[in-house]
Amino acid sequence: MRDIKILLVGGGGREHALAWKLMQSPRVSEIVCAPGNAGIESLARCVPVAADDIDGLCALAQAERPGLAVIGPEVPLALGLADRLFALGVPVFGPNAHCAQLEASKSFTKAFLARHGIPTAGYREYTDAEALRKDIGVFGFPMVLKADGLAAGKGVILAQDTEEAKRAVSVLMEQRAFGAAGERVVVEEFLRGTEASVLCFVDKGAIVPMESAQDYKRIFDGDEGPNTGGMGTYSPSLLFDEEMERRVCEEILLPTLAGFQADGLDFHGVLFVGLMLTAEGPKVIEFNNRFGDPETQSVLPRLKTDLLDILLAVCEDRLAETEIEWDRTLRAVCVVMAAGGYPGDYSKGDVIEGLDAAAEDALVFHAGTKRDGDGRIVTAGGRVLGVTGLGATHEEAREKAYAGVSKIRFYGAQFRKDIGKF
Ligand code: AMP
Ligand code: GLY
Repeated sequence: MRDIKILLVGGGGREHALAWKLMQSPRVSEIVCAPGNAGIESLARCVPVAADDIDGLCALAQAERPGLAVIGPEVPLALGLADRLFALGVPVFGPNAHCAQLEASKSFTKAFLARHGIPTAGYREYTDAEALRKDIGVFGFPMVLKADGLAAGKGVILAQDTEEAKRAVSVLMEQRAFGAAGERVVVEEFLRGTEASVLCFVDKGAIVPMESAQDYKRIFDGDEGPNTGGMGTYSPSLLFDEEMERRVCEEILLPTLAGFQADGLDFHGVLFVGLMLTAEGPKVIEFNNRFGDPETQSVLPRLKTDLLDILLAVCEDRLAETEIEWDRTLRAVCVVMAAGGYPGDYSKGDVIEGLDAAAEDALVFHAGTKRDGDGRIVTAGGRVLGVTGLGATHEEAREKAYAGVSKIRFYGAQFRKDIGKF
């Protein structure tokens, strides 16, 4: 029976993948998406309310009376959207504002990790630029400096020497390149190893990892250039063998759930654990409290269980009894196509061609796209599309993704050519 209307908040590739998966559920009657994008439009009714317009989203929820709200991005979570919707009687997938500090505040997270003895880099925190300057090099170099608040994945500076560190202090704390996030700066020990992320469903009684995914954060091939929101992913991650999975579970995930319970953190949603796999074992680099983007675009196509059932189970604290099945024979590779200039300034409004042809090879998830006055699909953001290839082998999935990418054209398009290449 199609009896559940969903309010989906967000308008990126992650939300397109969520809408695509949720529409496969026999129980979903309709998705209302705020604000959505030109791809989500084909699956959902898009409403022009911004993902950070909390009052607007609450008014929308009151008018639409959804049976479930799914909050994609971190900003509305940090602004307390989950709390507000919950107070209106809407079941919400996504943590409350108190828990959302796990992503919105590095300092909150470091204190949580330290309190519960969960492996992470040693750290100190500063609210005074002078005090921080005196401590340059406390943990040696490269020196890791992090703005405390949300900075769209860009608030971390790795300074190679004293000069760079001084500049970083000035950029973060004086020029306030990341706004108020620079009021407090966390300095960390530099961790050596390989990065991996694990996305987990979490409710009061359980933490259940999804299939693994590997992200590519830098803009250029060979992991060169500045950090981005993510330029591609593949799933499963080859770094994540059974032994590593067991260690992460025992040393990080279960202690985290126990920590949530001990601290009264009532978390319902996705906990995204960013890890460094070091010689001493896995250590937490960061927590996010939402699905990853573009991890979701390569992980959800491998999910066999009805996603709606899982989301409702989380909302109702039934996750421990819910069976989650993955298609472990299927591999996925997602290549992000970004606007020229991203992650710096980029152009917008450029016509995108070849979307239908690409869809013959791959799943084309829209991110920064919209329809212009003439009904054409044009670019409207830094990351424009996520093109996911699927296959029985990793190589086949990779070929399909790049076959899709090769058919898409827009002015200045850039993408990495080494996603999933070993
Ligand atoms: P974050 O936003 O905290 O995930 O940091 C962004 C990126 O900076 C990470 O994905 C890592 O590549 C790098 N990074 C952050 N913290 C550390 C650390 N303590 N040691 C080494 N690299 C780090
Ligand atoms: N791809 C990294 C993130 O979603 O934060």
